Amino acid sequence: MNLGIFDSGVGGLLIARSIKEAMPDLNFIYFGDTLHVPYGSRSTEAIYKYCVAAVEFLFRKGCPLVIFACNTASAAALRRIQQEYLPERYPERRVLGVVVPTLETAVAAKFKKIGLIATNYIIQSNIYGLELQKIDPQVEIFPMACPLLVPLIENHGEPWLDSVLESYLLPLKEKGIDSLILGCTHYIYLKERAKKMAGPEIAVLSQDEIIPQKLADYLVRHPELSSQIGRDGREQFYLSDITDTYRMASDKIYGRKVAFERFQEVF
Ligand code: DGL
Repeated sequence: MNLGIFDSGVGGLLIARSIKEAMPDLNFIYFGDTLHVPYGSRSTEAIYKYCVAAVEFLFRKGCPLVIFACNTASAAALRRIQQEYLPERYPERRVLGVVVPTLETAVAAKFKKIGLIATNYIIQSNIYGLELQKIDPQVEIFPMACPLLVPLIENHGEPWLDSVLESYLLPLKEKGIDSLILGCTHYIYLKERAKKMAGPEIAVLSQDEIIPQKLADYLVRHPELSSQIGRDGREQFYLSDITDTYRMASDKIYGRKVAFERFQEVF
């Protein structure tokens, strides 16, 4: 069986790649819902429906454990899937997100004023603020919606990225943040730029550096799931829509040719 990795598009390949680097033998199946990306501008009900279809697909493909690499999916659908969908239908299987592990890492590192850049959906949902309350209510979070970043990253907007990112980061720097969460899979692309702009006083927390370790810890704590996942280094990639743009972007992100299959079912 396999680990399932799900994202709204191909940005989650950055998380898949970092998991592959940390655990090269772990078999995984990646599914990117390119037919419906971007999730950041969709309704909660629509995102929930897409996420359930993705989970069903990955379960059918033999994944006892699925990671939502997508922050927006983690915010819109994860709790409902964990609390309602799985207990009713798949009590033995698990779905994990990226929001809580990211906050746990920030709190464990003793940051007190955390800046957050993310999609409109993430900021409006206040998922990071709500989850942080449960982990450590003393820690402050400073959110900034960055709706222009995903379109710029996806549409070769390189020449504008620096100035747009700078204008989003400036108000956060003025608040005196000590750390900055890149709260969207796409923003992992911006890690080096963000680090340069943030300067030495602000730690940049990027999910490709957080999720593999958190997953490894989870697998140790859950041998009943871990033992089901094969260790032959097999990887499979599925998209709900395959275009040359996604193929090119994926090869670049993953660092080598990615052979995609199409998830046939129209949903
Ligand atoms: N992958 C999504 C996330 O991490 C961003 C792109 C989208 O809006 O679908 O939030």
